[in-house]
Amino acid sequence: MVVENTNTEILKVEHLSYTYKANTQPTLKDISFKVGKGESLGIIGLNGSGKTTLSYCLCGIIPHYLKGVMEGNVFIDGKNTRQTPLYEMSSKIGIVLQDPNIQLLMPTVEDDIAFALENHNIPREEIKKTVYQVMELVGITALKHENPNNLSGGEKQLVALATVLALNPSIIVFDESLSMLDDLATNRIISLMERLKQSGTTLIIIDHTCKALGIYDKIFVLEKGEIIRRGTKESVLEDKLFLEKHKIFL
Ligand SMILES: Nc1ncnc2c1ncn2[C@@H]1O[C@H](COP(=O)(O)OP(=O)(O)OP(=O)(O)O)[C@@H](O)[C@H]1O
Ligand SMILES: [Mg+2]
Repeated sequence: MVVENTNTEILKVEHLSYTYKANTQPTLKDISFKVGKGESLGIIGLNGSGKTTLSYCLCGIIPHYLKGVMEGNVFIDGKNTRQTPLYEMSSKIGIVLQDPNIQLLMPTVEDDIAFALENHNIPREEIKKTVYQVMELVGITALKHENPNNLSGGEKQLVALATVLALNPSIIVFDESLSMLDDLATNRIISLMERLKQSGTTLIIIDHTCKALGIYDKIFVLEKGEIIRRGTKESVLEDKLFLEKHKIFL
């Protein structure tokens, strides 16, 4: 019997803790939260607060690649990430990594975007069409024959974003994806995020400078591996005393 997931929640994190193999102290400590389908969550926090580590847990890099100690569970659309192969998860949740160098492996930009699609056995003609569409969307068509290694940091971020968009996942995690972009590219990607949100994509935006503030429905503040504040964007950001105390300058 197939049990359908009729719940509107698409992401659930339950008592998640993580300790890197090299460390004795946990980087994430007993984190629990839920995100509904189509909701946009902003995560802010100082350097080293655990934002990237949390993003690795959401998309399955932890525990599938990084072999520290993970406690608790992450469910994507009802499926426990521990038991779901990364290949299967990548069509549900895509991540634009903070360091795009890890994400770009092929000799040209267009090959890199096509790569993930080829792994999903999509017909060649459809792959070509999708690659062209996402390059246009992100504004990198002129770079299609370039070697990703030879691009600037911001250009690499855009290519990494295109590789994720090509798979059209239900959830996209952006880990500081606007950090190296100029104003033109930042505005383009923020309006792309708006369109994704309107079309029902769930967005998790790690963005310590809050450039994409307009898009968040709710916001979490992470400090030393714990969520120290959560709520609507307005409720968190209008608490100036809290922001000042935790050195959050927007
Ligand atoms: N590969 C690793 N091995 C051991 N410890 C690590 C590793 N990566 C991160 N850590 C630990 O986890 C902490 C949080 O790192 P993380 O990258 O998640 O923070 P962040 O909030 O994303 O920071 P930033 O704003 O600088 O991107 C680090 O301070 C470090 O102690
Ligand atoms: Mg980080």
